[in-house]
Amino acid sequence: MTDPSAALLDAARALDAADPLAAHLDAFLEAPGVTAYLDGNSLGRPLRDLPERMAAFVREDWGTRLIRSWDEQWMTLPMELGDRIAAVALGAAAGQTVVADSTSVLLYKLMRAAAAARPGRTELVIEEGNFPTDRFLAEGVAAETGLTLRWLTPDPVQGVTVDDVAAVVSDRTALVSLSHVDYRSGALADMPGITAVVRAAGALMMWDLCHSAGVVPMQLDEWGVDLAVGCTYKYLNGGPGSPAFAYVRRDLHGELRQPIQGWWSAADIFAMGPEYAPAADIRQLLSGTPPVTSMLAMQGMLDLIAQSTIDAVRAKSRSLTELAVRAYDELLAPEGVRLLSPRDPDRRGGHVTIGHPDFREVTRRLWADGVIPDFRFPDGIRLGLSPLSTSHVETITGVLAVRDALASRDS
Ligand SMILES: Cc1ncc(COP(=O)(O)O)c(C=O)c1O
Repeated sequence: MTDPSAALLDAARALDAADPLAAHLDAFLEAPGVTAYLDGNSLGRPLRDLPERMAAFVREDWGTRLIRSWDEQWMTLPMELGDRIAAVALGAAAGQTVVADSTSVLLYKLMRAAAAARPGRTELVIEEGNFPTDRFLAEGVAAETGLTLRWLTPDPVQGVTVDDVAAVVSDRTALVSLSHVDYRSGALADMPGITAVVRAAGALMMWDLCHSAGVVPMQLDEWGVDLAVGCTYKYLNGGPGSPAFAYVRRDLHGELRQPIQGWWSAADIFAMGPEYAPAADIRQLLSGTPPVTSMLAMQGMLDLIAQSTIDAVRAKSRSLTELAVRAYDELLAPEGVRLLSPRDPDRRGGHVTIGHPDFREVTRRLWADGVIPDFRFPDGIRLGLSPLSTSHVETITGVLAVRDALASRDS
């Protein structure tokens, strides 16, 4: 049998030559020694102009303008950046999104707010394959509020379906909290379909957008989503620990009260009065001083996505994951590797997961050789293909390296 590697590399070169977003590959900093970075779904790469942007921030905004910059630009940055994310990636109108805290903290705030906003309802629906922080937070909120958790147990590869959700929601449901793209399998949930079912039951719907924001287009307003939280260090390239964002549908603003009521969520931040009154708008989701320095890096990436359009980013994402699945079929399936992502490109987000009992050791070897996917327990490798910074050739380079590492693991 002939080796399919050459044909795959030819196909990848042709796809790169026809890629309308290929010019943007050069917008990212080079990482010496890295031949395939396949972890943009965990930590996006920095843009090439970021060192200068950060230096200018230190020199001018901070170093020269000093505390005046709070009035001049930083006070409103959490809302302005939220609006920018909403416009570029979320399909949401202005005034409903803020940047703050971490995903975990914002999920907590909104779960608590949702529980309080649906008194008399006793259940919080969550999925057993959801990211650990989502599950742990739900357990904590259930313990604090007396809600009962209703666990969904969907197919681990195909992910949660409208029918799975329809089977458990009722007039007892206060909140359903799910991930748009499954962190393990990459399965893409039917956001409009599930949201409609949840809202028809009178419950609130919250989406974790960590693995979809910036790579999968969505229409939060049009689809009637109540609440959403996502991170900015994956496909929005905000850098390690950059703050998260939260969306709250406008007509819930007066109703929802988040529990960490700090001075930044007060109606008048500088009143310094004896009593707390919440801000009437989305600022109510903030608690304390925003991490301005950590909000710098994402701004360049938001510009790049806006320039490219999120639909074009999604088109390239599909092309990359389709090529990865083809390479899996030809190079890895014969070696006993399992495909742990949906085959249908409409049903998956920006990463493809493959499984093999030896993948922990294989990942160690790949990292040592400058090929960087990530390993997820128990035996999965995620090929995270961030469309603006990843080429088709890089994708094939990565899959070939997985095959070679598997072949040489006993040597
Ligand atoms: C789907 C999902 N939800 C939540 C989180 C938690 O985010 P953070 O650690 O920034 O709070 C992550 C982190 O990777 C994630 O992938």
